[in-house]
Amino acid sequence: MTPLTPVLTDTWDKDRSWSLETYVATADGYAGLRKALTMNPADIVTAVKESGLRGRGGAGFPTGLKWSFLPPDDGKPRYLVVNADESEPGTCKDIPLMMASPQHLVEGVAITSVAINCHHAFVYVRGEVLHVYRRLLNAVQEAYDAGYLGKNILGSGYDLDVTVHAGAGAYICGEETALLDSLEGRRGQPRLKPPFPAVEGLYARPTVVNNVESIASVPAIMRNGAAWFASMGTEKSQGMGLFSLSGHVTRPGQYEAPLGITLRELLDMAGGIREGHRIKFWTPGGSSTPMFTDAHLDVPLDYESVGAAKSMLGTRALQIFDETTCVVRAVSRWMDFYAHESCGKCTPCREGTFWLKQVLARVENGGGVDADIDLMVDLCDNILGRAFCALGDGATSPVTSSIELFRDEYQAHIDNHGCPFDPVRSALFD
Ligand code: NAI
Repeated sequence: MTPLTPVLTDTWDKDRSWSLETYVATADGYAGLRKALTMNPADIVTAVKESGLRGRGGAGFPTGLKWSFLPPDDGKPRYLVVNADESEPGTCKDIPLMMASPQHLVEGVAITSVAINCHHAFVYVRGEVLHVYRRLLNAVQEAYDAGYLGKNILGSGYDLDVTVHAGAGAYICGEETALLDSLEGRRGQPRLKPPFPAVEGLYARPTVVNNVESIASVPAIMRNGAAWFASMGTEKSQGMGLFSLSGHVTRPGQYEAPLGITLRELLDMAGGIREGHRIKFWTPGGSSTPMFTDAHLDVPLDYESVGAAKSMLGTRALQIFDETTCVVRAVSRWMDFYAHESCGKCTPCREGTFWLKQVLARVENGGGVDADIDLMVDLCDNILGRAFCALGDGATSPVTSSIELFRDEYQAHIDNHGCPFDPVRSALFD
């Protein structure tokens, strides 16, 4: 069994794990910031590059490389924006992280700001999670009171303000450029890239946008060194990460482990699939990543291996469904979400998710016709690669992957005029 690696979760079992006092007393809290303040900022960027840390929000873009894309400092403002708008269906790692150990994030914000010479950082958090918003406000205030934020932090002469901003609860605002529009006070809709935020981001200034878990990983890299972080995981997917197991698992929850661990190993720790059942399908990284089956239990959960198996590591949101789940129903529910959350800016996503929702609903509810399966594949073909941002592409993944793996089950819904697993409906059409 691969051991767990409690780094981001190292305080979770401590009394008042979220407090600054616990963080400093039990996790060497703010030792990373003290070290960073003695370093040349460029060396901090180099350390993060050498650690191999890749964006934990889903895309896996190398974090240090992203920081190094900022143009040379012209003395004008540059910003750090933490994307805490976690909304991908199944994804549930940043919210527990911010609830249980928000100081990891706050220290990471301070170190990253020093590295990129930012004096005003923002944390954009989902509006619905009021408890997280309050906890972050409290954590930031504790850091101000202790001199880790504000004017002249730790006597270094460096000034840093942190603003926690609550969004209004739109999935699209997790897309980094829509998030920036929303933070600027506009309706959140994606911007054309390039220019990437690193060049032209918040208020058209160079901006680093990083996920909560990415930034929260920075203090430990500072304290323990790049080589320590790089020693975990695989050759190209280094370090540890939170794996969120949900669904039909005996002990669902957050499992912090090196990248490259397999679902089989994670299930060993999570007590397996609920008793008497077997796995039917699962998502490696949220609903936007093509689904897997029990044939993929030994795929190492790193960017390369999951990619080679034709999916994406995404947010490591492992949603596990056993044989009692109707795949058409599950995909139909996800499509309701995508159609509702499509921002409407581009036609392929706005119209495509709407039509996919209609067709899935009629197949699920017994009105499907033979041509519907190919129609859905065709609709997906017309969204994938043609949508303005990743939302549209992501919406196609559950449809195309489930049709590839469970085409017979879709056909059975059409032949049976509804779900073959629904005993009432099956009896009616027997
Ligand atoms: P992306 O691959 O376009 O970009 C990833 C990051 O790298 C961005 O910050 C981007 O600015 C930066 N980047 C890429 N190329 C660059 C360049 N040449 N110069 C400067 N910066 C560059 O991916 P995107 O659209 O940001 O994210 C898609 C991912 O988000 C999906 O893979 C999905 O897993 C994940 N996702 C996560 C959600 C969540 O709740 N955490 C919700 C929905 C999607």
